[in-house]
Amino acid sequence: PAPGWSIDADVVVVGSGVAGLTAALRCTSAGLRTVVVTKARLDAGSTRWAQGGIAAALGDGDTPAQHLDDTLVAGAGLCDEPAVDVLVTEGPDAVRRLIATGAHFDKADDGTIALTREGGHHRRRIVHAGGDATGAEVSRALVEAIRDRGVRFIEHALVLDLLKDETGHTAGVTLHVMGEGQHDGVGAVHAPAVVLATGGMGQVFSATTNPSVSTGDGVALALRAGAEVSDLEFVQFHPTVLFLGADSEGQQPLVSEAVRGEGAHLVDADGVRFMLGQHELAELAPRDIVAKAITRRMLEQDAEHMYLDARHFGAEMWEQRFPTILAACRSHGMDPVTEPIPIAPAAHYASGGVRTDLHGRTTVPGLYACGEVACTGVHGANRLASNSLLEGLVFAERIAADITAHGPHREGRPAVADTSTVLSLLAPETRREVQRTMTAGAGVLRSAESLAGAAEALEVLRRGAEDERKAAEPGVDSWETTNLLCVARVLVAAARERAETRGCHWREDFPDRDDAAWRRHLVVRLTPDRR
Ligand code: SIN
Repeated sequence: PAPGWSIDADVVVVGSGVAGLTAALRCTSAGLRTVVVTKARLDAGSTRWAQGGIAAALGDGDTPAQHLDDTLVAGAGLCDEPAVDVLVTEGPDAVRRLIATGAHFDKADDGTIALTREGGHHRRRIVHAGGDATGAEVSRALVEAIRDRGVRFIEHALVLDLLKDETGHTAGVTLHVMGEGQHDGVGAVHAPAVVLATGGMGQVFSATTNPSVSTGDGVALALRAGAEVSDLEFVQFHPTVLFLGADSEGQQPLVSEAVRGEGAHLVDADGVRFMLGQHELAELAPRDIVAKAITRRMLEQDAEHMYLDARHFGAEMWEQRFPTILAACRSHGMDPVTEPIPIAPAAHYASGGVRTDLHGRTTVPGLYACGEVACTGVHGANRLASNSLLEGLVFAERIAADITAHGPHREGRPAVADTSTVLSLLAPETRREVQRTMTAGAGVLRSAESLAGAAEALEVLRRGAEDERKAAEPGVDSWETTNLLCVARVLVAAARERAETRGCHWREDFPDRDDAAWRRHLVVRLTPDRR
């Protein structure tokens, strides 16, 4: 579709989670004309759902070096150490600046910031808010700051494609706005810098902790724009997601790692604590190890779920420390104060994404990425708990500094045409097929056979979309479904290629880690004929 309206800016930020809003605030403070575009409302993305918190070496005796060590161990040999070094070294000040922006975190009795533990951390270093509502507080503070500082934003604006100028430099984005008035319909924001902060792709699976808006739009856009994408095979399954039934689809309630951090136990169908003896940190082992142990025990016992037992916290602690989780459990008729609650792993976080350097630059000039959509190299094969909000903060600030330092690029003639490369859109009804295919073939447990089946099913869907008679009308649902299919295909291709088990990529047919062959990233760049 050709843009019906356009506006000009120095920077357009796509997405409004911790990464996008931090980038927008810092760019605005530096005097850049900044526009935020976001697919739903400003606070609708994944940030708001984050429970556990933000990891940073703020506690007595803790250091960035220890945080670095824990991050590298969780990342199973694939973290890029310079990126992790940036994360852990700049993290504490980034958290302090977030506090200065208006976020309120829980305090200990002595008035210092309260810190909790989560899987893979050898120290208490997780900052939290409202007990288990950290993301909601971060989102509130940043949205308020955006409004207070008059940063321009357009809500209900689904980004379609990247615009480039004649030199191949970024020149803005096309958008589909589902509103009324001035910016309705398909339009464009022309800007020489585009910051992708669109979040994750959890909706590519049937059951996920991610909200419905997490449909991989940024990765799909970057692939269509010819940017490099890396590590897509590393999808993290959160070990403890409230089990609502094998048929329950879409966003599922998270039960934070912090519940185990405060002493909850994982028990099997016979009430046995099965993490003891499996890892020195038991229930607080890195997330991939816990998710695998749960899945294994479920298979052994032919059970649909395991249990998390935190009855010993008592009612008062549940109410004060984990009010969000307590309310979610009770709304589903379960009470963690009096009974172990059923949990199972579900898709949670894309460790891979659009490949960036230490300044958040992608391989397309002028296109940046930060937050879950990016692959900065800090997560490797498995993200350490609560490093995600931190990564969003730290790398968003770096991007703003880079754009400010180099000034908006003004060499090429501004693009006027829509460069949209997707010719046929997938019907929204196929979304479930994509999700079920991915859960069955490319979920927690993968094999050459399951992945080949998934690849074939996705190919059938792609061919169906190319059939003009079946092509869907342009609209948010059809764009989202098309984006889901695009990222699903690349994810499956990467998972087929990585013939080893590492971090959160678990191949039944290649159960061991193979450092000689596979201590490397899988980088994908689609050629024009494959976009
Ligand atoms: C959690 O609270 O368990 C989620 C933390 C994270 O994903 O980093």
